[in-house]
Amino acid sequence: EEAAAKSAQQTVNNVCAACHAPDGNSVITLNPKLAGQHPDYLEKQLTEFKSGKRANAVMSGMAGALSEAEMKELAIYFSSKKTALGKAKSNGAGSAGEKIYRAGNAATNVPACAACHSPNGAGLPKQFPRLSGQHADYTLAQLKAFRSGERANAPMMMAIAAKMSDAEMAAVADYIQGL
Ligand code: HEM
Ligand code: HEM
Repeated sequence: EEAAAKSAQQTVNNVCAACHAPDGNSVITLNPKLAGQHPDYLEKQLTEFKSGKRANAVMSGMAGALSEAEMKELAIYFSSKKTALGKAKSNGAGSAGEKIYRAGNAATNVPACAACHSPNGAGLPKQFPRLSGQHADYTLAQLKAFRSGERANAPMMMAIAAKMSDAEMAAVADYIQGL
């Protein structure tokens, strides 16, 4: 086990850190923060990048080189780090972003994000991801990818994003960054 942990650290240093930072709190805003994310969710994403169920040119290459055991170790490594929280630009308390997050949009049948991602954005075990503190640029890009079908590994999120406007996506992504 010690050997496995050591090799996960080496993979992080040699490969993942360039894009996700050594502690998983990426600086580039289109690269997701992995710190504090649920390990089962991270492992699922790596498995699906490898199989092609989640299509991404960069990550399919990265995950293609990993064994199942390495994915598990890397997921545990990043989940053990502390999420660096961000700040909303204009969607704090009482904002349109908060309204969508906590109540959805009854007129268009968008459900409350809080129901599955928890009121504080920490997510729920095991495969409902943490959203709290995530870069708004990344969150917005994922919502658009769910809506267009470019990210096709989560039918639930595709159905929700299909009902959202650009303005709603941008507002909730900004709110989540500061959550
Ligand atoms: C996404 C892990 C290396 C760029 C992800 C996700 C995981 C992950 C789990 C999905 C996160 C989520 O859904 O919230 C890793 C690991 C790496 C690694 C374990 C090392 C073995 C890299 C490198 C780059 C990169 C080297 C840049 C060249 C990205 C980007 C995304 C992403 C751009 C978002 C993909 C999208 O838009 O769907 N990574 N990554 N990653 N990673 Fe990595
Ligand atoms: C994933 C946002 C509502 C279940 C995600 C992701 C985002 C997101 C950005 C991708 C996270 C990442 O790549 O790191 C939202 C927003 C919502 C919402 C803004 C409200 C408008 C919901 C609801 C459910 C749900 C109501 C449950 C019915 C999930 C699940 C995933 C996910 C299971 C993981 C998908 C996967 O395994 O790839 N959500 N969500 N979400 N969401 Fe939501």
